[in-house]
Parts: sequence; C-alpha cells; structure tokens
Amino acid sequence: SKEGFETFTLKEIYEQPKVCMDTLNSKLENGDIVYEDFPFTKEELSKINKIYTIGCGTAFYAGINFSYLAKKMLGIESFEILSSEFRYDLPNLDENSLIVAVSQSGETADTLAALKEARKMGAKIVAITNVLASAITRLSDYSIYTLAGPEIGVCSTKAYTSQLMAIYEFILYLAKATGKIDESKFKEYIEELKSIPEKQKKILDDVGIYEEIANVIKEKSSAFYIGRLIDYKTAMEGALKLKEISYIHTEAFPAGELKHGSIALIEEKTPVIAVLTQEEVFEKTLSNLEEVKARGAVTIGIYSEIFRGKDKTDFSIFVPETYKVFYPILTAISVQLIAYNTAKALNRDVDKPRNLAKSVTVE
Ligand code: M6R
Repeated sequence: SKEGFETFTLKEIYEQPKVCMDTLNSKLENGDIVYEDFPFTKEELSKINKIYTIGCGTAFYAGINFSYLAKKMLGIESFEILSSEFRYDLPNLDENSLIVAVSQSGETADTLAALKEARKMGAKIVAITNVLASAITRLSDYSIYTLAGPEIGVCSTKAYTSQLMAIYEFILYLAKATGKIDESKFKEYIEELKSIPEKQKKILDDVGIYEEIANVIKEKSSAFYIGRLIDYKTAMEGALKLKEISYIHTEAFPAGELKHGSIALIEEKTPVIAVLTQEEVFEKTLSNLEEVKARGAVTIGIYSEIFRGKDKTDFSIFVPETYKVFYPILTAISVQLIAYNTAKALNRDVDKPRNLAKSVTVE
C-alpha cells in the first residue's frame, strides 16, 4: 500500500533513511563489516589490479561511485562500463580483475549477458542487488544485498541510495582488508555512515522549495544538470530522474564541458541545475553557473551546507555536511525531489512513466 502517500514513488523517497540504515546495519557486527561466507581471501583481494563496475541506468550511476572510490581509496585502476557495451567490448580480464555488478532487480538482461562473458574469463564477480536469489546472484561469486524492500515505482529511488550505502560499506571493507585504511580512520568512516540517515531525514523535512523550483522547470522542454567530480555522477542520475518521470529532455554535463558546444542550447529561462559539494571545484562550477546565467538560464544549486552564504543561484538547496565522498547519498534525495515535483506539476503518471518497464529483461 501507499501508506497515505499520493504515489509509491513518494513513499519510496521517504523510506530512504530507513532502508539506508537497514542496509548499513545488516553488515555491521561490533563495529566491523562482516560479509558472511565471503569467498575471497585477503591475499586474493590484495592482488586485484583492475576493477570494472557494470550496470544499466540508475544502477550504473550508483556503480560509478564505486569505481570512483576504488581509485581514490584503494588506489586500484578502476573503470565503469555500461553492461550493454561491456558485453561486446570486453576488456582483458583474469582472476585479478574484480567486476562489481549493480542491479536492483538482479534480472536485467544486459547485465546478465555481460556477467556471463566476464565469468568465462575468470574474473571475480561481486553483485550488489536488491532481490534474493535473483539471476544475477547465480552468475556472481558473492552477492551483497541491499535492504531496500520492494520498489514499485518504475523510477529507482530508494534502491539507488541503498546501493550507494552498500557501495560505501564494500569500499571500506576492501580498504581495511587490503591495509589501505587504518583502524581509527575506518571507525570514523563507519560513524559518519551511521549519521547519514538522520541527514537524509533533514532533507526530507524541508521540501518547501522544490515546488517553486518545479514550477520554473516545468515551463521549458529542456533542462541541464552540471557538476564536477563526484557531483557529476549525481548530475547524471538527476538528469535521468527528471527526464524519466517529467518527460523534459535533460542532459548532464561535467560543468567544464558545457562551454565546449552545448551552451548553444541555453536560452531565456532554460533551467540549469548544479550540484556543488566539492571544495576544490566549487569556484569553478560557480563561474560556469555565471556563464549560463549571463545567457538567460535560471540557475538552481544543490549545495553542501559548508557553502551556505556563498551560493549564487536563483534557487539554492542545501544538504547537510558529510565526508566528501558520501555526498551523493544526500544530494540524490534533492535530485529526486526536483524530478518528482516537476512530474507532479505536469500531471505525469509518476509511478508508471510511459514506455518503461520496471525490469528490462531483453537486451
Ligand atoms: O534492475 P536494475 O537495477 O538492473 O535496473 C536497471 C535500470 O533499468 C533502472 O535503474 C532504470 O534506469 C530505472 N528506471 C531508472 O530510474
């Protein structure tokens, strides 16, 4: 049931603090991360020299956070490849390659086909999925389950943030197992993860501004998302959410790339939504916003709280402060609320957008 919410999607958006907490807690034992029957030894894990993350749609956008963190926190060469491409353009894989496959349903044909190929080449495979004993689990050496519960809305919301939580936990597990992080740092990260659900609640408690923003976005037939580094990953997810349920054509760009061509599309009142949580690129993204504003764009910023007072957009949203690498699990909620409110303002069928199926079982 919708439990009093107007749609399943809205209910699922509000379930995120709980499902993220459940996903985190399901692997925590006395302050440590425990994966029961994990098949790889520390020695094997230390030999991993290449990581590939695969998935489709939102699952892919969750997965790209894994490859980003694997580079940053494990120092391992990491790549992200869409399942439908991976299958036909196989990299060189061997037992020192780790494939992380992300799929809510565990039944997505493109991802299953890619895994079959990777298996033949002897790569190690870990799945992150929401469905017990789904097809993906049979093709993987190990499955990490997200505890999102059934997701009815076609557009993925709580599955995405619980995938992010599972990814953060898995990265910390690998970092500890391979000696890339010391005990005290590890503990700090775990404590920060425990505080995430409360921070998500804060975002969900303060939703007044989204209706105003939606009323601006709904007037145009195209919109842009921009961001740098990890914020670009959220921008891609935000663009998919917005186009999927509102039918407004939305594209995401790394903020610096817009001026290399696509800025030609900006006209009076074109919405440009920026995600700004990373200190080292904050000023650069702000100046990209100024460029589009000078050409008539309406600017919307999703900022970390640390930038309050430094915002320069027509509309500013703030998410609570967290560790640099964990912002996507917070900013995700803001991009969902932007998409949701815009779709509602346009009277779209949010739970069942046209032309789409919840699980895509053909290649
Ligand atoms: O079940 P999966 O996670 O493998 O599904 C992957 C995509 O089809 C899915 O995330 C799709 O992009 C969503 N409708 C996006 O909201």
